[in-house]
Amino acid sequence: MPAIEHDPATDTWLLTTPETAYAFRVEPGGELRHLYWGARLTLPQALAAGRDRPPVFGFDSPWDGTEELPAEGGLRFGVPSLQVRFADGTRAVEWLPDGAATDEDGGQCRLEIRLRDRSYPLGTVLEYRVFDDCDVIERRVTLVHLGDGEPIEVYRADSAAWVLPPLAGYRVSYTTGRWSGETRLRRHELPAGELTLTSRRGITSHHVNPWVMLDDGTAAETAGEVRSVALAWSGSWRITASRTADDRVSVTGGFGHDGARWTLAPGESLTTPVFAGLYTSAGFGAASRGWHAYIRAHVLPRPEETRPVLFNSWEATGFDVCEQNQLELAKAAAAIGVELFVVDDGWFGTRTHDGRALGDWTPNPERFPHGLRPLASAVHDLGMKFGIWVEPEMVNPDSELYRAHPDWVLHFPNRRRTESRNQLVLNFARPEVAAWAHGWLDELIGANDIDFIKWDMNRPFSEAGWPDAPGDAERLWIDHVRAVYAIMERLRTDHPGLRIESCSGGGGRADLGIMAHTDQTWISDNTDALDRIMIQDGYAHLYPPGTMSAWVTDSPNNLTGRRIPLRFRFHVAMAGVLGIGGNLLNWTDAELSEASALIAVYKDVRKVVQHGSLYRLAPLDPEVTAVQYVAGNRAVVLAWRPAPRYGQPARPIRLAGLDPASSYRVEGRDYPGIALLTRGLPTDFPAGDYGSMLAILDKVQK
Ligand code: DGJ
Repeated sequence: MPAIEHDPATDTWLLTTPETAYAFRVEPGGELRHLYWGARLTLPQALAAGRDRPPVFGFDSPWDGTEELPAEGGLRFGVPSLQVRFADGTRAVEWLPDGAATDEDGGQCRLEIRLRDRSYPLGTVLEYRVFDDCDVIERRVTLVHLGDGEPIEVYRADSAAWVLPPLAGYRVSYTTGRWSGETRLRRHELPAGELTLTSRRGITSHHVNPWVMLDDGTAAETAGEVRSVALAWSGSWRITASRTADDRVSVTGGFGHDGARWTLAPGESLTTPVFAGLYTSAGFGAASRGWHAYIRAHVLPRPEETRPVLFNSWEATGFDVCEQNQLELAKAAAAIGVELFVVDDGWFGTRTHDGRALGDWTPNPERFPHGLRPLASAVHDLGMKFGIWVEPEMVNPDSELYRAHPDWVLHFPNRRRTESRNQLVLNFARPEVAAWAHGWLDELIGANDIDFIKWDMNRPFSEAGWPDAPGDAERLWIDHVRAVYAIMERLRTDHPGLRIESCSGGGGRADLGIMAHTDQTWISDNTDALDRIMIQDGYAHLYPPGTMSAWVTDSPNNLTGRRIPLRFRFHVAMAGVLGIGGNLLNWTDAELSEASALIAVYKDVRKVVQHGSLYRLAPLDPEVTAVQYVAGNRAVVLAWRPAPRYGQPARPIRLAGLDPASSYRVEGRDYPGIALLTRGLPTDFPAGDYGSMLAILDKVQK
């Protein structure tokens, strides 16, 4: 059971999860001093662990790198988690303890610590939540203006600071990238000073994803202490890891980027997104599995469901979609076992290229003379669900919508409205814009029996102004994102069968925040199977494979020009939620029948892939990369050997997560679990480049 314990004598709090513990103390001066985050221990042990304070040298702060939420003020020189400015110009905060509360709800416990400034009307509530089925600790903060006078300016409102024990050799892992090259894993020494990962784009971004893992340089895939943190937010954000001269390491993170400033009016409050943390002593693999378990249990709206095999038209027909060609593709897709048919961009307004019509969300009368309904019905009659691409937050200046409402976009007076992909961002913080978006989506989904939307977002924010805002215009950075979440939630409630894919030009919006409102993520526009292995590996460091949408597309690949056999392309896409993105009308009969057989195999293994535990067996080995999924009595191994060198030994792949005392049947042969764990599964790659294999292991029942 999770638990929250309190020692009144020292005002120390201890939170325990199934395997871990977390402790901090409320100092008489209102400071929240962190004591412990690691393997599970008792309250007396936590008190002893936190007894010794780090030594303080000249010019140092006694507080830097020790606090749960360092606010600017006093003898502090580190990165503040909280920065405010009161009406008289005072910037420092001085807290007084203002009470605490706990509550228990099913398998969860929540702790609330309240502080208030000793002289100004600012209150804050720090929230902690622990669960009985995972080791993730959720944290967030609410700031409250307790007075009725002047507003308070908020320069920084992070959700939490996570303090790590002082160890030598700290290393940091995270993913960076770009469009079509998202989530590449980086792992290097944590530099002395500050390392800031951030998005100033209004979206999570392709460029860096909002999580970090920290270890002392000795952790490996299967062993070692790893502390990791991840932010549940889909707009601009910032995470800063700090390392002092004496190896005090802490990580503060939250929404907003540097330079953003928000106003807190009297009586108003501001609640930050969750910034969650996870400790494990069992290496990076266990850290990933811990996050996957948490996301399945506490983030995703429908984790129990198994995602269907989809077809998406984007790479097949681009902007040239019409009822006839989509129907032909739908028939071909249904024939090979596809279960969800998605029409991508190009179905609405005068949208025949990316220069116009975003905002005009009615079916193109030339391409769909009777609307979408006939196609949706035909797709349903073929036994598939029907999905559609939308990009609700965007408008092309060449559109009816923009001509009618030029003021609806983000803009400043006297500044350019800079276009990117010929489009501007609609300001969803404006209630009438959010209402308009909800209205046409609701109508579209209801009128056409739409089962699935791919919600895209193809440009970052720029010139993010709102000249006639009724209040604080800069709140749009927050309120836009919240409006997106709210519209998704309303659509889900009113259309209970609706499922949503998050997309932002590929993986620009993959995070714990959007995951609470969506079912799967389009993680990259790069569908080259070789590149994809790396992108998928980075994504799955935090996010579960059951959310990872992956298509098999044509060869040569439209982005890289690489030619890869169909089987390898399938085996890479089968590591997540399988989809087909190629032009099936150009596939040969042999390719279609191979595809049909591979889809059938995927349907047989997908419960394990989508809901099982992921083990990275040979992470990004230049020779062979392999992943394994385990659920119940079944395990599935996918391995890829893109370019073997002649004479290289064909080593067995050592498996993980199996019962050593049981035997497992693989293609009619039984292997002792212990042998698979220690010696490995023999490999069986076809000769030549782009060899791949999929092995299904079933526990032999005694
Ligand atoms: C970007 C997406 O990532 C693609 O899959 C596709 O939907 C295009 N947008 C359509 O414009």
